[in-house]
Amino acid sequence: MVSLTIDGKPIKTKKGSTILEAALDNGIEIPHLCYHKGLSVAGACRLCLVKIKGRPGMVASCLTEVAEGMEVIAFDEEIDETRRLIVELILSEHKHDCLVCEKNGQCELQDLAYRLGIDRVRFSVEKPNEELDNSSEVILRDPNRCILCGRCVRSCAEIAVQDVLKFANRGSEMFIIAGLNQLLAETDCVFCGACVQACPTGSLTEKLARFQGRSWEFRKVRTTCPYCGVGCQIELNIKDDRIVKVYGVEEGPENKGHLCVKGRFGFDFVHHEDRLTTPLIKRNGEFEEASWDEALDLVATKFSQLKQKYGSDALAGLSSAKCTNEENYLFQKFVRVCFGTNNVDHCARLCHSSTVAGLSRAFGSGAMTNSIREFEKADVILITGSNTTENHPVIGSLLKHVARYKGVKLIVVDPREIELTGYATIWLRQRSGTDVAWINGLMNVIVNEALYDEEFIKSRTENFEEFKKVILKYTPDRVEKITGIPKRKLIEAARMYARAKKASIVFAMGITQHITGTDNVLSLANLAMLCGNVGKEGTGVNPLRGQNNVQGACDLGALPDVYPGYQKVSDPKIREKFERAWRAKLSPKEGLTVVEMMNAASEGRIKVFT
Ligand code: FES
Repeated sequence: MVSLTIDGKPIKTKKGSTILEAALDNGIEIPHLCYHKGLSVAGACRLCLVKIKGRPGMVASCLTEVAEGMEVIAFDEEIDETRRLIVELILSEHKHDCLVCEKNGQCELQDLAYRLGIDRVRFSVEKPNEELDNSSEVILRDPNRCILCGRCVRSCAEIAVQDVLKFANRGSEMFIIAGLNQLLAETDCVFCGACVQACPTGSLTEKLARFQGRSWEFRKVRTTCPYCGVGCQIELNIKDDRIVKVYGVEEGPENKGHLCVKGRFGFDFVHHEDRLTTPLIKRNGEFEEASWDEALDLVATKFSQLKQKYGSDALAGLSSAKCTNEENYLFQKFVRVCFGTNNVDHCARLCHSSTVAGLSRAFGSGAMTNSIREFEKADVILITGSNTTENHPVIGSLLKHVARYKGVKLIVVDPREIELTGYATIWLRQRSGTDVAWINGLMNVIVNEALYDEEFIKSRTENFEEFKKVILKYTPDRVEKITGIPKRKLIEAARMYARAKKASIVFAMGITQHITGTDNVLSLANLAMLCGNVGKEGTGVNPLRGQNNVQGACDLGALPDVYPGYQKVSDPKIREKFERAWRAKLSPKEGLTVVEMMNAASEGRIKVFT
């Protein structure tokens, strides 16, 4: 830690911090425009100028590291006057149409002009009015409101890692272009909106929110993105009970403000006219609107009649990995207590059940062993069965980011040439369905070259000698024949993974939805354990789950063989515990999986599905 003072206030901060970071962390709002947390520092706007006692002139606080005993002057008449001049110069080129600007009320330039008391702009630069870029369905670009702070350029390069927005020309001729000075829709833009979130003015805004409400009119609700399993934290901006726009929460532990196009802009389904908002009951072949009481009474009566007539196991329920923990808990309890059966399951069965089975056996839990942000701490990341930039775009961007900016080496094992193969140090292209063989091949090299973690194996694993007997059969030559992966590349990948201090494994449904899915997962777990890559930061075996609460739905027992917390329904002691808690007699029989339910329904054995 380093001790310094800012305007006489004593501050302790981390070594390596800048003066601006130290000030902002301690509630001292040094004006700034081009600085944005999470982006590299540009030092372009000069608004963050401060003085340091004993040094001549002013320095940009966003570029200057703190030092022990430093005495910083952040505000005095001379600094304020300089800042006023800078803002005036920015305003001299800026389109002053705040009345209809979407950023009115949350524009950082507007706030600074007000805070610095700029009541006139002495200069004016004649600039032609630029055309709006209206080509995207979700992002509106207004070059006339751009202040060239470069936050959009850096967020596009560093967060989204798309490199669509760039500076063109120099000096007073400088401007921002998309692609090769094209319309946004004609470029490689993925419309994640990272640039929109980073823009301090109204130059980049959410098109769908245009004229839908002012920032001060919005009710803000923090929640989790309803799409994939990344768990991005979002802030809904709601007016008149309608979602107008969505921001990524900068403190979100996984996404740190970043979102993909779905999370940021894909919320129109919430208010879609096709959604059912009133219960419907079919009468004489036609659906008719009904009250909730009427609908619930009818359903309850029919459930009871069918249960009496056909028995409890003729009823089944499908829960959802898009529902909350509370909803999943209640639903599985409802099926077990009211229906009297364990026929309850959900969509994890079809995507990652092999992950749950494999990782539970290997580690006792089907969850990621490490957190998403730990990818930043890894030295090597092995990615297989995951087209991450398409299916989990926020993690995809993070993987591209760590490969480009943090020197993390990616090993991508995928039959397809996906976007991540362009960032990979090694790309292994296996024949589809040969995953156990190439993973065993990697382990064969690691065992033969004694690159494994002996201490970890001794203290944390079992049956190493048995394991070795199998692995030694998978020579690189044999694996090349089975998988099509050249043995030279297999050996190179094995050495890279094993020699890394911290190596992480990422996988998804490209290897779990195979008949050998569970074996694929177990093999990856073996690989991680062989090199001691479990239980350490930046390592582990990390399944990228499909839905936003697939983990919670499993944890809360929306599964046919286990109660909440993976407690076996077939264990009499556990069953008695739940019978006491729920005050009901529970079935000792494991329920049907979703696939078995479908087959049973087509054979007429299941009469009720909910
Ligand atoms: Fe430091 Fe812009 S915030 S120069």
